[in-house]
Formats: sequence, C-alpha cells, structure tokens
Amino acid sequence: MPDTEALPSHSNPPPAGPDAIGDGHTTPPMTAPAPPPGAPVEPAAPADVIADAAAPAPDVTADEAPAPPGRSLPRILAVANQKGGVGKTTTTVNLGACLAELGLRTLLIDLDPQGNASTGLGIENRGLELSMYHVLMHEEPLENVVEPTDVRNLFVAPASLDLAGAEIELVPAFSREQRLKRAIDAVIDQYDYVLIDCPPSLGLLTVNGLSAASEVLVPIQCEYYALEGLGQLLRNVDLVKRNLNPTLDLSTILCVMYDARTKLAEQVVTEVREHFGDKVLRSVIPRSVRLSEAPSFGQPITTFDPRSRGAIAYRDAAKEVHASVSS
Ligand SMILES: Nc1ncnc2c1ncn2[C@@H]1O[C@H](COP(=O)(O)OP(=O)(O)OP(=O)(O)O)[C@@H](O)[C@H]1O
Ligand SMILES: [Mg+2]
Repeated sequence: MPDTEALPSHSNPPPAGPDAIGDGHTTPPMTAPAPPPGAPVEPAAPADVIADAAAPAPDVTADEAPAPPGRSLPRILAVANQKGGVGKTTTTVNLGACLAELGLRTLLIDLDPQGNASTGLGIENRGLELSMYHVLMHEEPLENVVEPTDVRNLFVAPASLDLAGAEIELVPAFSREQRLKRAIDAVIDQYDYVLIDCPPSLGLLTVNGLSAASEVLVPIQCEYYALEGLGQLLRNVDLVKRNLNPTLDLSTILCVMYDARTKLAEQVVTEVREHFGDKVLRSVIPRSVRLSEAPSFGQPITTFDPRSRGAIAYRDAAKEVHASVSS
C-alpha cells in the first residue's frame, strides 16, 4: 500500500487572501441566558454559550496580536478545528508523545466523546468508571481521572461516549464554560504541557477547551477546502477571548497530511503561511499510513514506528513548539 492517498481531483488551489478563511456566515447574535432548571435543553450554538450579548462579530485577522517574545511553562494548548477528520487527535497524541520524549511532563485531555485520543494511547475507554464526563459534570477532581500511558511523562485524562451528554447537560449548568479551566487549575503545577483534544464542533465542550487554554493550536489539512470554516473558528476564538479568557492566543498552526507529490498541498501551505505568517510551524506533517495505523495499536507514532517520517515530523514540530519557551 503506498504511503499516500489520492487527493480529490480539484485542479484549482483554494481561494487566496483574507476571504479564504471567510465562510459566508456571520456570527449569530449572542443572547440566550441559561434556561431555568428543568427546562428542555438543546446543544448550544457556539455564540450562545459565550455570555456577552451585543458585541458584534469582529473581523478577525491572524496578525492582530503579536506573539509574546517568550512563552513560559506550563502551557495549555487547545487543539481545535471544527472540521472533522483534519488531524486534531493525531496531532494531540503525537505532539504530546514527542513533548514527553523531550522530558516534559505532558497531560492530554480528551474532550471528544469519540475518545480517540484515549484509545489511541491504549486506554480502554469503554466502561471507564471515571472520565472527563465526571470532571465536567460531577466536579470529579481531574487527578482522579488521569491515567499514565506507556510513554514516560505522558498522561491522559480519558473521554468516553457519555461525554456527548455533557454537551447538552452543561447548557443549564452553573459556570458551564469554565469547568475545565477550574479542573486544570487544580493540577497544573504537575505538568509542563497540557494538550486538549477538542471535538469537531464549536459547542460547549470546545468552549470549555478554549476557556481553559492559554493557546490554540489549529491543525490544517493540506487539501482542498482546507481553509473552509476557519473564519468561524477564528471568530469563536475571539469571542472566547473577549468574554471568557482574555489572554487566549491563537499561537500555532500546523499543516498536516501533506502529500509532497501534489502541487495542491504546496499551494495550501503557501496560502496558510501568507495568511498566518509565523504562527505557522516550519515543520509540516506528511500524509503517512504509519500515522494512521498507530492508533489501532494504542500507541503514538514515537513508539509504534520511531523512525518513520511521521515520527520525525512530529518530533520536529514538538521541538519548534517548545523552542518558543524562554529559558
Ligand atoms: N498525517 C497523516 N497521515 C495519514 N493519515 C492521517 C494523518 N493524520 C491523521 N490521519 C488519519 O486521518 C483520520 C482523521 O484524523 P484525526 O482523527 O486525527 O482527525 P480529527 O480532526 O481528530 O477528527 P475528528 O474531527 O473526528 O475528531 C484518522 O484516520 C487518522 O489516522
Ligand atoms: Mg479527533
């Protein structure tokens, strides 16, 4: 089996310039106070879950806030992109493993009911007694949920399917956007890095991830439509920033699933660099079958195939991420 997959046969590159991240949607007005207890609830639209009412949606550009000269540990990165299947979990697991390999104590928080980050690290998440659901809904201390992995310095707070319920159950809950932040606050002095694997949506789970994080890392697939929907993500990052987490910084963009044989992949990377400048890591993650095989063995690429291209690329990316920490 070749180490690459056929790309869609689009010959045109994705649209260029600031419009490339526009998606034609405006952020809906933010109203909706929490419904009274007992009222039927529905999953909240992202803008609804962020308190402040009448603020207009900003024109978000990537370069609005210059990156601070040096970051300090601990760092909490939310890995987010509301598009499904773009490499969030693969990046969380493998970047986390590579940071751990550098000797940095790293906690992965699985905030996706699919639980792929948990199973990808060998945690059997069916029938788990305690998981992120209990942290978010029942104030279970995070430290009671965290499990060690086979990788030294790498820990995981697993998710299981019941977390899908939290997206709905959180709607009428007190302090619904800040629950993860509180849970992390209690353990943060034990870690150098916390990586949060967000689900492919912009609902309350992702808002909890963004509220708890100091930074956002966005994986972008080097494929057609890669930038579609990013405008919505950037607007929501900005909403969280203005209403819940003023120091949140969209610090890191990682181009993933790069197929060097196609012009399109190169064009996407060029577009992304033009738009996001030095937020984009120089390291690019190749499309690699080994990366997609590793989770079914419950291992990150660093132990599954330590010398593979994917392992090398994620190691480079981890070094680059950590290089911005001032010593
Ligand atoms: N660099 C890569 N090369 C090849 N396959 C990859 C690569 N990165 C991710 N994949 C595969 O692509 C699929 C989607 O990746 P992943 O689960 O990481 O995306 P995701 O954004 O977390 O998805 P979701 O939105 O469903 O949570 C998986 O099957 C994964 O193994
Ligand atoms: Mg995922």
